[in-house]
Amino acid sequence: AFSSLAARAEAQHPIKNVTIFGAGFMGAGIAQVSAEAGYNVKLVDVSSAAAEKGVAGIKSNVARDARKKFAELAKTSAEQAAESERKHVEAIVGRIQATDKLESAVAEADLVIEAIVENIKVKQDLFRKLDAHAPKHAILASNTSSLRVTDIASATNRRDRVGGLHFFSPVPVMKLVEIVRTDDTSNDTHAALLDFGKSVKKVTVSCKDTPGFVVNRLLVPLMLEAIRMLERGDASKEDIDAAMKFGANHPMGPLELGDFVGLDVCHSIIEGWHQSYPDVQLFNPSPLLTKLVSEKKFGRKTGEGFYVYPPAAPKPAK
Ligand code: 3HC
Repeated sequence: AFSSLAARAEAQHPIKNVTIFGAGFMGAGIAQVSAEAGYNVKLVDVSSAAAEKGVAGIKSNVARDARKKFAELAKTSAEQAAESERKHVEAIVGRIQATDKLESAVAEADLVIEAIVENIKVKQDLFRKLDAHAPKHAILASNTSSLRVTDIASATNRRDRVGGLHFFSPVPVMKLVEIVRTDDTSNDTHAALLDFGKSVKKVTVSCKDTPGFVVNRLLVPLMLEAIRMLERGDASKEDIDAAMKFGANHPMGPLELGDFVGLDVCHSIIEGWHQSYPDVQLFNPSPLLTKLVSEKKFGRKTGEGFYVYPPAAPKPAK
């Protein structure tokens, strides 16, 4: 009965129009995979310049993919390959509209995905507005990595149509999306979010609205333990990272990963958890992490974190 209900809801309101709030590294990645899956996408940020910057980043990603896709053809005809690349990029980027106008961006949305700053007040304020302006049937999803989806949903009058869609960085590469359901998320909403995750070619896992869901609940304490190891002087940062890369086959060591995700992001996650769960020792703040963040050493995006990144190194857009 459950899946036929979901199928009926699908038939009534199939997801066609997806609106994404936040044109940073995550939001732009979500917009890219949504456009690649054929959805009409609106990418919204506080200024149209910020939204346009997100689209420019997507364009260069898609262009790089297109060059790989038509590399064989380029060997025989550079002209045909260039034409195919251009069409491919246009087809995908042409589905994305950058804007800073909330009301018109959500007026026809079937699904809204929020990927803005990790601040509960700011998110609740946005969800209040989304609830007021998005169509009744629209699902509102948050890409929050550490806040309670339940608290975000509480700003709306459609708690049954709110859930978490938690992507991983870099979104076009990482294959997972976590589908978070609160106690109020309806079966239809959960099913629609699962279908959406699959449609953007991700592996989906369902989880409850608990701190860090599955991945960050395991990954953030691992990073923190690595930082504490460094604080104690048990091993050098290079050796801690090399150990996890070559001893556990992780693509990046934990400190390198902290720099990649952003030490500001890691810090705000751990601060929030520590406040909510002061007795969980794994969530204790780290003096070294706090110091780096106070010095604005956020990792790759600022050019320095645990490591120093030369300006020529590729950096995330935000
Ligand atoms: N956008 C799109 N594509 C990208 C990209 C980006 N920003 N960065 C890399 N890629 C693509 C490359 O084009 C390349 O594609 P190809 O295989 O078709 O040529 C492929 O990814 C591999 O890239 P590289 O060869 O440049 O580099 P690596 O092999 O070192 O891979 C990496 C880079 C994918 C980032 C890899 O190091 C990795 O998987 N790191 C771990 C990432 C991770 O754990 N992410 C999760 C963080 S937790 C999180 O996001 C949750 C949040 O809530 C905090």
